[in-house]
Amino acid sequence: MSSENTVVLHKGLDNVYVAESSICYIDGENSKLFYRGYSVEDLAQRSTFEEVAFLLIYGWLPKREEFEGFVRTLRESYTPPQEVLAWLKTLPSQAHPMDVLRTAISMLSLYDRQGVDGGLEANRLRGLRVIGVTPTIIASFARIRRGVNPVEPKMDLPIASNFLYMLRGTEPDAFDASVMDKAMILHAEHEMNASTFSCIVTASTLSDMYSAITAGVATLKGPLHGGANEAALKYIQSVGSPEKAAEAVDRTLAAKQRIMGFGHRVYKNYDPRYMILKPLAKQLGERKGTLNLYLTAEAVERAAVERLSQHKLFPNVDFYSGLVFNALGIETDLFTPVFAMSRNAGWVAHVLEYLADNRLVRPKAYYTGKLNSPYVEMDRRGDKVEG
Ligand code: ACO
Repeated sequence: MSSENTVVLHKGLDNVYVAESSICYIDGENSKLFYRGYSVEDLAQRSTFEEVAFLLIYGWLPKREEFEGFVRTLRESYTPPQEVLAWLKTLPSQAHPMDVLRTAISMLSLYDRQGVDGGLEANRLRGLRVIGVTPTIIASFARIRRGVNPVEPKMDLPIASNFLYMLRGTEPDAFDASVMDKAMILHAEHEMNASTFSCIVTASTLSDMYSAITAGVATLKGPLHGGANEAALKYIQSVGSPEKAAEAVDRTLAAKQRIMGFGHRVYKNYDPRYMILKPLAKQLGERKGTLNLYLTAEAVERAAVERLSQHKLFPNVDFYSGLVFNALGIETDLFTPVFAMSRNAGWVAHVLEYLADNRLVRPKAYYTGKLNSPYVEMDRRGDKVEG
């Protein structure tokens, strides 16, 4: 307990621990990231998004039978309720897909077969349903706004390939499918960040999984969090060529603007996800004929590191993820929804873990306003009436 005189304000909740968790560990000084104890490098190299989702949610790597049952449950949810699909067709084509996704996930609760059951198992099933259906919602809206029909999901495809298939209308080759899967693994979880905390705050009121993930999507949307990938790609595109990078970075910093895709609240060194995504961005650039964009990104990165590393600002996951998604043919404003469809796994895991030992989140604000202000009738209120 602290008296009013010893109040310590934690603006932005920097370094405040709000829960115990065994889901994710970040060593920000040494560029290490672990999901349930497994290094993200190992998982990106050897696992699949579905297996990682299982690992995050249940806490162990699945045996074959467990895995098959889990995948079956996810695939049973690939197809959205007809009402959600019909609604997607009514939307303005200029709607931001992140707004669409946020509203669609909220809408899913209207068609929930678990009814009002607030138990852990019912919420787990809701979570798996959201993980399974989100790619279809994003790809369907992307096609509808292009004026073409949505493509139905293929029940025998994993989530990453299926997403690219539904977006493009043709199945991706093995390379694209594997890069998409790795990118989803890298975005699946990241400890107690802003969006995960939003999920937990909402879940802690014993609301439900849809509300929690809706809150997570809403929070992920901002450019300081999930929206940075979109902003980073636009910046790199605006620079235009490697030769212009140093001057552009100088101009940006002189204008006191931030280099998007740089800096992190936890990583004070290179983000390990960046280190995996960068070579993938290069390989995609070579295969898709977009190497100039990659080389421009590299030049921006070099210039920014030269100027910012002394302040412990290094590229984060978002610096190259935009390039990867762009080379995979994903429209720029879909990047954050794609981030969300991967992060669903982490959000579900955290909500379930928190609910198992729930405590209502209820922080305090340090009051700096007035007290005992005399109420003045409306007609007698002058401009200068002081309360
Ligand atoms: N470019 C230039 N300067 C930066 C950057 C950047 N990308 N990031 C931080 N700084 C500077 C700030 O201007 C500030 O300088 P000052 O002390 O002279 O005022 C100092 O570094 C500290 O900045 P804070 O905002 O206090 O640092 P914080 O740890 O809160 O910020 C954040 C982390 C929000 C990610 C920040 O680095 C940023 O805005 N980066 C750009 C956006 C981005 O890439 N976000 C994605 C993060 S990863 C993710 O969410 C998936």
